[in-house]
Amino acid sequence: MSQLNYASYLQLDQLLSMQEPRTSNTAPREVVLAEHFFIVAHQASEIWLKQIIADLLAATDALRPDYGNPDANLSVEYLDRAGRLIGLLHDQLVALEKMPLRHFADFRPHLGTASGAQSQQFHQLDDLLGNDERPDGLYAAFDAYATAQGMSVAAVCRIGSSTGVLHRIAESLVEIGNGFWRWKIAHLTMISALLGDQPGTAGSSGAGYIASRIRLPFPRLRLLRGEVHEALVPTPTR
Ligand code: HEM
Repeated sequence: MSQLNYASYLQLDQLLSMQEPRTSNTAPREVVLAEHFFIVAHQASEIWLKQIIADLLAATDALRPDYGNPDANLSVEYLDRAGRLIGLLHDQLVALEKMPLRHFADFRPHLGTASGAQSQQFHQLDDLLGNDERPDGLYAAFDAYATAQGMSVAAVCRIGSSTGVLHRIAESLVEIGNGFWRWKIAHLTMISALLGDQPGTAGSSGAGYIASRIRLPFPRLRLLRGEVHEALVPTPTR
């Protein structure tokens, strides 16, 4: 049996053979390279999404008693890593703006009806971050963990750093949510720059549709953070 090396460990032969521009045989080099760039950006995003989702699920499990002894510090480690990786996703998207519009227009007909809207991993992430009501979700696990420590998320927001790891989790969630939101805004601005008013390949109206889909992540946490102001506002005397 051959010895393990860099290429075999990472299965590079397979990995690097999976970028196949559909314009390869017909278009000038600059168009083929632009399509290659487009494929790399999407494939890399999907690989990072895989890691981000796994980290967020592990962060959730680390807070749940039914998965062994809850370990909130471990959960923070996962959350911080996921937050950093969402920043990478954002940077990759911004890099795509370096694709010349005319080359995009040349290879876009080859995409057919393929669209990022069909990214299952992206919708899974959206659900993990946008749906605080899910009983098995990340926010619910945090809420339950705080309650088990004799706290509420509202109290964690109000009291702040002296709640220790609970505060760090709350801050991490806000950072992750904002990072994801930044991705969505960058996606919208890129669509507007590269498509103008043209419809998307999945048949949506394009930029207008994407703008209508942007929601703020962790709505419940945001609500509770906002209430800190109400709690601190002195009642008017007259
Ligand atoms: C040149 C680059 C890109 C353009 C012009 C673009 C354009 C669009 C458009 C127009 C839509 C609306 C659906 C449709 O009708 O097709 C869409 C949806 C979507 N795209 Fe992109 N996109 C680009 C890059 C990316 C990348 C790199 C990703 C990362 C995986 C991505 C992920 C998504 C997702 C997840 C949706 C669904 C969003 C939602 O439902 O709220 N897109 N994209």
